Amino acid sequence: MSKSLGAVILAAGEGTRLKSSTPKPLIELLGKKMVEYPLAAVKSFMSNGHQGEVTVVTGHRREEVESHISKIDSSVKFAFQEKQLGTADALKAYFHHNKNAMNFEFTLICCADTPLLADTDLELMASKLEKNNWDGIVATFETPTPRGYGRIIHEDVGFRIVEEKDASDEEKEINEVNSGLYLVRTKYIKEHLNKIDSSNNSKEFYLTDLFQAGRNVGVRCFADGNAFFGVNDYKQLGQASRLLQKRINQTHLENGVRLMDANHTYIDSGVEIGVGTVVSPMTELKGNTKIGMNCRIALGSVLEDSTLEDDVVIKPHTYLESSIVRKSASIGPFAHLRPSSDIGEEAKIGNFVETKKVKLEKGVKVSHLSYVGDAEIGENTNIGCGFITCNYDGAEKHLTKIGKDCFIGSDTQVIAPIELGDEVYVGSGSTINKSVPSGALAIARARQENKEDMARRFIKKKK
Ligand code: UD1
Ligand code: CA
Repeated sequence: MSKSLGAVILAAGEGTRLKSSTPKPLIELLGKKMVEYPLAAVKSFMSNGHQGEVTVVTGHRREEVESHISKIDSSVKFAFQEKQLGTADALKAYFHHNKNAMNFEFTLICCADTPLLADTDLELMASKLEKNNWDGIVATFETPTPRGYGRIIHEDVGFRIVEEKDASDEEKEINEVNSGLYLVRTKYIKEHLNKIDSSNNSKEFYLTDLFQAGRNVGVRCFADGNAFFGVNDYKQLGQASRLLQKRINQTHLENGVRLMDANHTYIDSGVEIGVGTVVSPMTELKGNTKIGMNCRIALGSVLEDSTLEDDVVIKPHTYLESSIVRKSASIGPFAHLRPSSDIGEEAKIGNFVETKKVKLEKGVKVSHLSYVGDAEIGENTNIGCGFITCNYDGAEKHLTKIGKDCFIGSDTQVIAPIELGDEVYVGSGSTINKSVPSGALAIARARQENKEDMARRFIKKKK
């Protein structure tokens, strides 16, 4: 089918069953907001030869919902539903606010709270509608747990939908349910929408009443109902998250990423991972994270909005935030790269090291127990154990610059702002507060005195 299409996503409801302080369409789900999922599916379906536009019906906390969606996709239109009087009323708001809406031959309707929707399922539904030349089609599925969904009641011609709250005990036994996804001839909607009333147990205008016995409408019953899973409460949000995670992880496995335990690896939907990379369990790869080829990410690590080039090794229990790690570098175990850490090729960050806003060049080593913040360190410089950049004077942050091929002895502090040249050698235990020229040895510590035989005055033997 290639038709003119007005797509509408219903997102005005309050989502009371979630009891969340976030509006339902903006609830976080694996790195995206819930509404972004059906929106992406609809956009992808449209781009496959269908002409038209996408509108989101907003109501409850509309400013937040609209501003978020506009940031992602400025072509999306909005229709404001003043009072949440039901899904049919939401559709009325769409036709009321969008002047083009009546001109599209078909109207595609879906809900903002069905994040597993896939463009391929939209395609299947559209082709069945076309084949049967129906006026409207609903995606349905069979489930052993139909509670909460509208039940499908097939008639000799057409069908109708009865909502949970209005269903008789007998009707509640029906396992075929309404997914909330509809494709309908716009002319048909025009003819029937305004006739829908609110004489039901919820006193709401039900969109599902568009479908009645005797009309030229039908269903496409999907074998896998997970694709239409609806999120109304936290239990369902958890289930949706697991289903979505399974789908994401499956894609990475198919792309040649080795997930050692795909059931316990948490990867957000926007994350990219290169072929040959191995990811251990209990890891979280979040937000806008990009991982190269043949990397290893060990147990317990969390990567947020970070980039790894190829062949990077992340050892256990490492936390990266908005950082970049270049080719063949190694980080951890137990390291924390705070935002704007840029770790050079073949560099090494060892255990209990924290970095923040640093640029470390190729081959730099900070192997043990150090804090490196607001610093630039040149190629192949080796930083000993227990090194600290004293970057903060209580009011402002200051820069530390260290050149290439330096050796900084253990337990050294550098008081920024400060600059050390190339090939500088700093004696262990120094507190460096004056810049050091290239090639110099700097030692800044009290001289040692040995007092012969005096130790026994202090070392007492137990009786
Ligand atoms: C709805 C269907 C039900 C179906 C289920 C699938 C109706 C009457 N029932 O029930 O048959 O099985 O979806 O998940 O349509 N909304 C508005 N304005 C309103 C009311 C709702 O925009 O006035 C939006 C909501 O934000 C939500 C969507 O419509 O995104 C569905 O509303 P919801 O209250 O979740 O309907 P369900 O009870 O799940
Ligand atoms: Ca719902």
